[in-house]
Amino acid sequence: MSDADALKREAAARALEYVRSGMKLGLGTGSTAKHFVDLLAKRVEEGLEVVGVPTSEATRVQAESLGVPLGTLDEHPVLDLCIDGADEVGPDLSLIKGGGGALLREKIVASASRQMIVIADASKKVERLGAFPLPIEVVDFGVAAIRRGIDRAARAAGCEGLLTLRRRADGHVFVTDQGHLILDAAYHSIADPQALAAQLSSVPGVVEHGLFINLASRVILAGAGGVTVIDRA
Ligand code: A5P
Repeated sequence: MSDADALKREAAARALEYVRSGMKLGLGTGSTAKHFVDLLAKRVEEGLEVVGVPTSEATRVQAESLGVPLGTLDEHPVLDLCIDGADEVGPDLSLIKGGGGALLREKIVASASRQMIVIADASKKVERLGAFPLPIEVVDFGVAAIRRGIDRAARAAGCEGLLTLRRRADGHVFVTDQGHLILDAAYHSIADPQALAAQLSSVPGVVEHGLFINLASRVILAGAGGVTVIDRA
């Protein structure tokens, strides 16, 4: 296990302390969330009773293979707790998410949860969001026009940057679990995430963006000096 991976696992292990028997849990996506599901499965084996609602097909497959009981958001529209990773953690626990392409389901699940806890290695903490390209999920109709709409909307929020259509490692266009495309926006620095979020949400064809604002209530960061827990004020 690499050092970064060990830190991710440490953050995931700490998050387990907030899980109680009987809880309905949102299960995040990505390498850090994968550690959480792995550790959760061990607790389930020991008798912990939870129901997980996965935020992606990848997480569903992992959780299912490890014997974590699963349900859907239709069966459980209100969840007790959602545990997920993040690409960046900014001021007020605002986040950039979607590096793994699951932002739409992740945001729906987080919004349906009474509490969202983010787990990450300490390198994800930033003074200002935006160094990580912002994933924007769009429909696969009129993408050239949607791009222009996004550029206009971003400029109105003080952001400018190249939009790159996400591709898989084999060169094929990346398609999300919901059948959409992702444009990664290299804005470098997002001065007003709230304004950008509102602007992007108003563009026809944009399904969702990776700015998660006022969703995370707690962040668990694991770094070389130990684990830090930050609560939203
Ligand atoms: C998945 O779409 C993302 O939102 C992930 O939660 C995010 O990319 C963090 O992933 P890692 O835990 O792999 O860094």
